Amino acid sequence: MIKINFSNSKIEKDIKEFDQNKIKKIDEMIVNKTGKGSDFLGWVDWPINFDKEEYQKMKEVAKKLRDEIEVLLVIGIGGSYLGARAADEMIRGLFPNDKVKLIYIGNTISSTYIHQVVEFLKDKEFGIANISKSGTTTEPGIAFRVFEKLLVDSKSKEIAKQRIVAVTDKAKGALKELATSEGYQTFTIPDDIGGRFSVFTPVGIFPLLVAGIDTDKLFEGSKQAYEDLKDINNSAYQYAVARYILNTKKGYKAETLVSYELQMQMFNEWWKQLFGESEGKDGVGLFPSSCVFSTDLHSLGQFIQEGTKNVLFETIIDIKKPSNDLKVPENKENLDGLNYLTKNSFHEINQTALKGVIDAHANSGDVPNIVIEFESMDAKMFGYAIYWFMKAVAMSGYLLDINPFNQPGVEIYKQNMFKLLKKPGY
Ligand code: PA5
Repeated sequence: MIKINFSNSKIEKDIKEFDQNKIKKIDEMIVNKTGKGSDFLGWVDWPINFDKEEYQKMKEVAKKLRDEIEVLLVIGIGGSYLGARAADEMIRGLFPNDKVKLIYIGNTISSTYIHQVVEFLKDKEFGIANISKSGTTTEPGIAFRVFEKLLVDSKSKEIAKQRIVAVTDKAKGALKELATSEGYQTFTIPDDIGGRFSVFTPVGIFPLLVAGIDTDKLFEGSKQAYEDLKDINNSAYQYAVARYILNTKKGYKAETLVSYELQMQMFNEWWKQLFGESEGKDGVGLFPSSCVFSTDLHSLGQFIQEGTKNVLFETIIDIKKPSNDLKVPENKENLDGLNYLTKNSFHEINQTALKGVIDAHANSGDVPNIVIEFESMDAKMFGYAIYWFMKAVAMSGYLLDINPFNQPGVEIYKQNMFKLLKKPGY
């Protein structure tokens, strides 16, 4: 379901000549769970080993909730929300017709945003999926207080009990305690799966079920990727090798993930967290950034074409089949001179832009371009792509000789904030 093209990467030969023994050794570390951070490799076999009983239960709870609500508030931050949002937007698009809308909160402390959501919910039937592995993260914690109270006050404690679901650790953390004490339905995040690797656990699956997304297909995609990537000569590992060469041998410092579809923007955000948190430590790693073209060709395109060289390379996601397509309408007067485009569909024009931009950036601009082809933007493709990138980042992180599965650097700001806010014990 994914094809990769290195013909404009400027390192095709280096990729072919890369030490296959190194790849083999790292693959063994991933599969046998023997490398750094190996107690967080539960995601590797998850497409096969996921908890089928819990999945069935999630389907039942989600179905009941879907019948009752118009809005599901998805409360979570980082790995506890980006995957669900990336899937929701990639698969359903930006203006879904489905009766249930997902609104994301707990990903900001902005009073203005939270107030706007409170106002928006007036006269709406809503439920809450409160998602936090640690169960102690401040942003989702305080957001939950606001919306739990809103639900209890506007409905009743009994209705809140039916409409609030917690996704958290099986035993520890404030959220687990709170959910048990209030009698909220709880689903579990496995101990050995970190936030940014948790899309296929209840973290991603439960909200997507409530959104009416075909999660069976999503699992089907992840399982296919799991099988396809058993062979070490695979495109995900080649992508990891290409990034490693561009970074450590050619001196590039940043990668920008480019898509030509607006509904892929949150997929880009999920990807940025995956690579940024997994690799950015011990003074190494590529800075992950993202663009949506042609939108950003009218802003960042200038920098990419002619700005500082040897800093940034591009990885382009080329969606072969759009979810919908349309023609440019014919106009008799042709005052705007655009009738020459009426033989093309929008997608064909978009694909032409993609080809033209790769040529401009890679050849005239001397910016390496890697192209990753996705077949489509449906649930199966999403499942495949997520697993593909997770396998790629594991290889990529181990090539850099770091632990790709921890994120010690995100703790420092939290400690500072707790001290400043005078949290007991800090
Ligand atoms: O990927 C990660 O581990 C982080 O982004 C976490 O998901 C994020 O910090 C939220 O943590 P928690 O789920 O414990 O609230």
